[in-house]
Amino acid sequence: MDNKGKIQPAKRVAGRKQDVWTIVNEAAAASPVQPIVNMGQGFFGYNPPQFILNAAKEALNKVDCNQYSPTRGRPRLKKAIADAYSPLWGRKLNPDTEVTITTGANEGMLSAFMGFIEEGDEVIVFEPFFDQYISNIEMPGGKIVYVPLHPPPKGASQNTSSAEWTIDFAELERAITPRTKMIVINTPHNPIGKVFSKDELLKIGELCVKNQILILSDEVYDRLFYVPFTRIATLSPEIERLTLTVGSAGKNFYATGWRVGWLIGPPELIQYVAAAHTRICYSSVSPLQEAAAVGFEQADAENFWETAKKEMKDKMDSFNTIWKELDLPFSDPEGGYFVLVNMKKVKIPSDYPFPAQVKDRPRDFKLSWFLIQEVGVAAIPPTEFYTDGNAHIGEDWLRFAVCKEDEVLERAKERLRDLKKYIE
Ligand SMILES: Cc1ncc(COP(=O)(O)O)c(C=O)c1O
Repeated sequence: MDNKGKIQPAKRVAGRKQDVWTIVNEAAAASPVQPIVNMGQGFFGYNPPQFILNAAKEALNKVDCNQYSPTRGRPRLKKAIADAYSPLWGRKLNPDTEVTITTGANEGMLSAFMGFIEEGDEVIVFEPFFDQYISNIEMPGGKIVYVPLHPPPKGASQNTSSAEWTIDFAELERAITPRTKMIVINTPHNPIGKVFSKDELLKIGELCVKNQILILSDEVYDRLFYVPFTRIATLSPEIERLTLTVGSAGKNFYATGWRVGWLIGPPELIQYVAAAHTRICYSSVSPLQEAAAVGFEQADAENFWETAKKEMKDKMDSFNTIWKELDLPFSDPEGGYFVLVNMKKVKIPSDYPFPAQVKDRPRDFKLSWFLIQEVGVAAIPPTEFYTDGNAHIGEDWLRFAVCKEDEVLERAKERLRDLKKYIE
């Protein structure tokens, strides 16, 4: 029997375009400016606060913290999360039935899709999107229906606010079909920094109630908001019954490598997320669940949430002063730690040598490559977070992550000043 060609990768992992992280890393390695200042990926350039680090170290000394945790998570962490979120929900959350712990928010969302999506079910996703949603929805056979967030019309000529990226609700309604099973929302949003307004969330929620659509609300940046922040699950009992809210200890406590996340939702939904999670990875990292529990228990006494928000907002505002100097407009984020900057005015020389993996990609990939080579600062091209048909919406923007040490941000500003000669 001829078995040649039998060992092929599954379509779900094969044949993808080179991913943005690889391209940016290759650009960084090829840059004459070394080391580059990396404002690409959203990992922190500094450690979690000492009280949380200490908790992680202490957890390693406890026998049970080095063994399997219960599949739904350690009781101490579930309780700490229920206690921390009950005041925000305006009622007491049940840690045993309404909270489940996952291996980062990402595996939590995968579990939610695995728990509810069948072959051919439709899931509405706003563009731009956090890239992991796509493969996580496709793995159980879901079909993604994209609805764009529309950028501010004046975004190329003047500073705007992330609030000006808008939903066309007629477009959203048209995207709903009898097969629509779920909608994914993300607030504060990556990469836009938009905090969805109460009015927008109410409209989305009412559409979901009317059409019986599950809501997966990705709120991993929930402690970093610079305008009032609404949680869709809290808007009405009817909306809450359909909503799974996702959180991340990695984002909350500056520890993206810890891989601790959770979902909060009604018991009838949470049980199926937990069932999928049990099959995917059984349980999540024990000592770091324990440390995250201490993080929640002590955060208020340490004034951690307020400090975290203030420090990030200060970083954001300080970094963004460079755009005025360069006369480049940016979209001021209402939350999170990403800023989108409009680079339409940056003129790349027409004969600039781009490598094959960048040459045929939208302009923002070229801008990203160019910035890394010419000034040694890495930023992410946001069309990675769009489908090909809508990529033109994002091709003049670049995304910078400001969750870096202050001196790194200063170095980035210093280097970005060299862009001046390319700006018209
Ligand atoms: C919008 C969004 N959701 C989820 C995640 C993943 O969170 P975690 O690291 O907890 O898996 C990220 C990480 O960048 C993100 O930006």
